[in-house]
Amino acid sequence: MHTISTRSTVQLINRDKLSFSISTEADDFSKLNCKENDGSDPLGIDDFIHNKAKLYRKNNLSTIYAVRYEGEIIAFFTTSMGAISVEKLSKEDTVTGYTPKSYPAMLLGNMGVDSKFQKQSVGKAICNFCLGLAQDTNQRVACAVVCLQTDKSRLKYYEEKCGFKYSKKQDLEKKVWVYRKILDPPTFTHLVTEDWSP
Ligand SMILES: CC(C)(COP(=O)(O)OP(=O)(O)OC[C@H]1O[C@@H](n2cnc3c(N)ncnc32)[C@H](O)[C@@H]1OP(=O)(O)O)[C@@H](O)C(=O)NCCC(=O)NCCS
Repeated sequence: MHTISTRSTVQLINRDKLSFSISTEADDFSKLNCKENDGSDPLGIDDFIHNKAKLYRKNNLSTIYAVRYEGEIIAFFTTSMGAISVEKLSKEDTVTGYTPKSYPAMLLGNMGVDSKFQKQSVGKAICNFCLGLAQDTNQRVACAVVCLQTDKSRLKYYEEKCGFKYSKKQDLEKKVWVYRKILDPPTFTHLVTEDWSP
C-alpha cells in the first residue's frame, strides 16, 4: 500500500492486483477522470478516452488498453506502431557505422490514470508493461524503442521514475519526445498476456 497522495478522495491500491487487458467496445470508460486537480486537461488525455477512443479503435489507429483494479477500470493507455527518426536518438542508442534514418518504435500514445488512483505508481506500471510488450513484439516485428510525447512539466517523471530519455531533437510543438531503448537481452522478463499483473 502507498499513501503518497494528499487528495481526500484517494483510493489506496495494492499494485500486485492490477490487471491489464486490450479493451473492447464493451468496456465502459465513462467514469474515468484523468483531468488535473483544477479540472483542466492540458494534454487532451481525458478528452481522448471519452470522445476519440472509439474512432481510434475502430480504424486501427491505436490499441486501447484498460487497467483494472478489483474489476474497476482505473487507467488506460494506447499503443501503436511507429518510427522515430535517428536525429531524435542519442548517439549511444544508434547503430555504429551505418545507421538507418529511422528506427522502429512502439508509440505509447495516451496514458491516463484516474485522479483517485494517481501517485501510486500505476503510471510507472503502465510504462513497465509497455516496455515488456515492446520486447515481446520485438521477437516477431522489430521494435527498437518505446517513445511518447509529453509536456515539460511531466518530463522529470518520465526520466527519473520511468527511465526514459529526453530526445535530443524536438519538434516545434509544446510537447516533447522521450524514449527508452529496448535492450538485448531483454530486461523486462514478464510475459505479456491479455491479463497481466506487474
Ligand atoms: C501523469 C500520470 C500518467 C502519472 O501516473 P501516476 O500513476 O499518477 O504516476 P506514478 O504514481 O507512477 O508517479 C507519480 C509521479 O507522477 C508525476 N506527476 C503526476 N502528475 C503530474 C503532473 N500533473 N505534472 C507533473 N508531474 C506529475 C510526479 O513526478 C509524481 O511523483 P511525486 O508523487 O513524487 O510528485 C497521471 O498523473 C495522469 O494520468 N495524469 C493526467 C493525464 C496525463 O497527464 N497523462 C500523461 C500524458 S503524457
